[in-house]
Amino acid sequence: MRVESVRMADSGLGDVESLPRGGFRCRLCHVTVANKPSLDDHLRGKKHQRLENLRNVRQAQELRSVFVSGFHKGTPASELSEYFQAYGEVVNVVMDKDKGVYAIVELQNEEVLEKVLAQPQHSLGGQKLRVKPREKKDFKYTPPRKQGSARQGQLNPEKLAQKLCEADDVDAQMPLMVQLFEFSESERRLRDLLVTLFQEVFLEFFPGSAILPFGSSVNGFDVSGCDLDLFLDLEKTKSFQASAKGPNEPQAQEGASPELDSRSEDSILSDIDLASATVPEVLELVATVLQKCVPGVHNVQAVLNARRPVVKFCHKESGLRGDISINNRLAICNTRFLQLCTEVDERVRPLVYVVRHWAKQQALAGNPFGGGPLLNNYALTLLVLFFLQTRNPPILPTVAHLRELSEDEERTVVDGWDCSLPKDPACLEPSGNAETLCSLLSEFFRLFEDYNFAGCVISLREGRQLPLPGFLSSCDMAGRLKLGPFNLQDPFEQSHNVAANVNEKMALRFQRCCRAAAKYCRSLQYQRKSSKGKIWGLVRLFQPGASEAEAPMAEGLVIYLPKFHEQLGQVGDLSHLWFQKVCTGVAFVLRDVLKCSCVETWQGLGEEQEASGTKQKEEGLEAKSEHMVAGAKHPINEEEDTVSPPAKRLRADALLPGGERTTWNCAAWHRVWLGRRRVRRQLHGPEPDSQQQQKAGSLELEAKVSDVIAQQEGEAGPAGPLLQFTVCAQFASTGASDEQDTHISLSFAPASEPSAAFQEFFHFLQGFLPRMVEQHLANSA
Ligand code: UTP
Repeated sequence: MRVESVRMADSGLGDVESLPRGGFRCRLCHVTVANKPSLDDHLRGKKHQRLENLRNVRQAQELRSVFVSGFHKGTPASELSEYFQAYGEVVNVVMDKDKGVYAIVELQNEEVLEKVLAQPQHSLGGQKLRVKPREKKDFKYTPPRKQGSARQGQLNPEKLAQKLCEADDVDAQMPLMVQLFEFSESERRLRDLLVTLFQEVFLEFFPGSAILPFGSSVNGFDVSGCDLDLFLDLEKTKSFQASAKGPNEPQAQEGASPELDSRSEDSILSDIDLASATVPEVLELVATVLQKCVPGVHNVQAVLNARRPVVKFCHKESGLRGDISINNRLAICNTRFLQLCTEVDERVRPLVYVVRHWAKQQALAGNPFGGGPLLNNYALTLLVLFFLQTRNPPILPTVAHLRELSEDEERTVVDGWDCSLPKDPACLEPSGNAETLCSLLSEFFRLFEDYNFAGCVISLREGRQLPLPGFLSSCDMAGRLKLGPFNLQDPFEQSHNVAANVNEKMALRFQRCCRAAAKYCRSLQYQRKSSKGKIWGLVRLFQPGASEAEAPMAEGLVIYLPKFHEQLGQVGDLSHLWFQKVCTGVAFVLRDVLKCSCVETWQGLGEEQEASGTKQKEEGLEAKSEHMVAGAKHPINEEEDTVSPPAKRLRADALLPGGERTTWNCAAWHRVWLGRRRVRRQLHGPEPDSQQQQKAGSLELEAKVSDVIAQQEGEAGPAGPLLQFTVCAQFASTGASDEQDTHISLSFAPASEPSAAFQEFFHFLQGFLPRMVEQHLANSA
């Protein structure tokens, strides 16, 4: 049963929360204790007393301090002190050293403060001063983090390899990666200080605003040196500004409280109406505040053409880079989701750190400035979380399940998206899954080595892949989600494909690298520490380009077709029937949709029978190749293709499915891979995206598109085929066991040296063919 955390109401215990099973947590000191006597000890103890005193001192200082701006740049503190001494004693003046544009003046007491604020206008050296009370802020104590983390800067690849090789096994190497890459204590402290500084400054200019960090600084996947992502929440500032102005500005201002009045007059807010200002306008203002008023910040630049416009900055002393956005409340929610995942299971962090490092080394992921086709770190992290949702039993819950577990008061909707999540991970049942980290990593690669990224949408909301045809016809989101070669739906903003920037080439590289990594993970070099001092385990996985080097050229010309369970229903046990249906689909797409010649040469035999079947195969090949005349002016008569090849009649049902194979001789006659989208538009005119996408999936429409392209290339048609190639379909085995993996590989071999046109055609087929075969199977089911 879930026990609600209740804030204690007694005076003096305002910082204490009661926890399930009789425990308590002191929110001031971030300390959790098991029972009431321990709590009493803590509250009487040195640490609590010291922090309570510190908080009192800070709050008292705040209550008698003013924020002053408007003076000449470079005005010394002594001059300000002298000026304010006319109202009473000045205890301290803290100047903004870096820019010299504002100061905090601490007065002797609140009486002096009242006098200062009662003065309608202040001026110094001929400049009108802005003088405002300080914003009241919660006192926050940042607990020190455990020692021992090394800075990434000190970790060159050799050192990393050395440290990893010293571990006992991969299960020890993986948590070590977290220790080596996470923030050091000083780095975390620096970030906390920076966030506090930003908060102080922005509060002065945007009353009621809040600076909220999100992303890797706080989501549990911190890597030393990573960006500092900040969200400037101006909601309260907007309401404050609206209430100060009111529907009828002059009258409303009369009625507004004097405190709000004085603030709005002097505030930078008098220059802008937040309710009607555009995001770029507000960001320009944020950039100005950053540039002029935040000490130590430089290289401020507003990037306004991004999906989420931001202001970029750099902290001079530490070199830390960061972004501030103002319309990114969803990121706060997905950050909480990522945090929650790390709290639910301790295997999550090591696995994400290792996959992220591997992907970075293989140039598959990262966040390069200006985008590019790489998976961003957020997308890659979601991919790992999705993998953990699909384990049996699952290691992570689906987002839909998390929503069900959230209490009424935890229900949150942001920008129309349901972002409800439970606050307390303790409400989740522990996973019964006992897989080791070493095995999980290997399984991660196995899952994605042949994944049909283009043919489905990966949903963390549901914890499963949603096949495209079904997704397009059933889901409201279908029209809005930008589909591409890699479809990974944001678990909250469900119309956003977080991998929409990934192009086909990158999606294929990702698969290829997963395949090579999965293969390596099956080797002893991965699984066992070397006794001879050789590199082992994660070290070799991290070698840049290792995955590429292992992928033979021919592997680049293979398309893997998925299981098509949805379309084929229960034929899983009848593998040869399944194989036949898929082959029919492949031939149909090549021939009827893409208008290629496609002649089956022979249909295979079990490997054991290959020798005895060779003659028949050869006969079949000869018979069929007669139909495929190089240089012939038109595609071969379709009727000929329907004749059963001799080998087909010989095939017995008892043959091992693993040995089944079908080969076609093919020729492409037109550049059907170019300009399809344009032709689709010509055929249907401008249409809402959803319709367009649905139709893009229809075989009939795609066949028409090919016809139009063929016609546009000229009535007479080409003098000969543009490309000639063979396609060989067979079961592909990737498992470590003898069990046949249920997917089919299509190996393409060009008749001559692969030309640029062939490469283009092949890349096109990699996305198109699996989708269309899927469609064909669905139609014929
Ligand atoms: P990043 O991709 O930078 O991830 O997105 P990260 O985990 O912070 O990795 P670093 O900083 O590169 O090490 C930052 C945050 O932006 C939000 C997420 O909250 C993410 O954690 N984000 C990113 C989205 O909401 N949607 C996106 O498509 C991308």
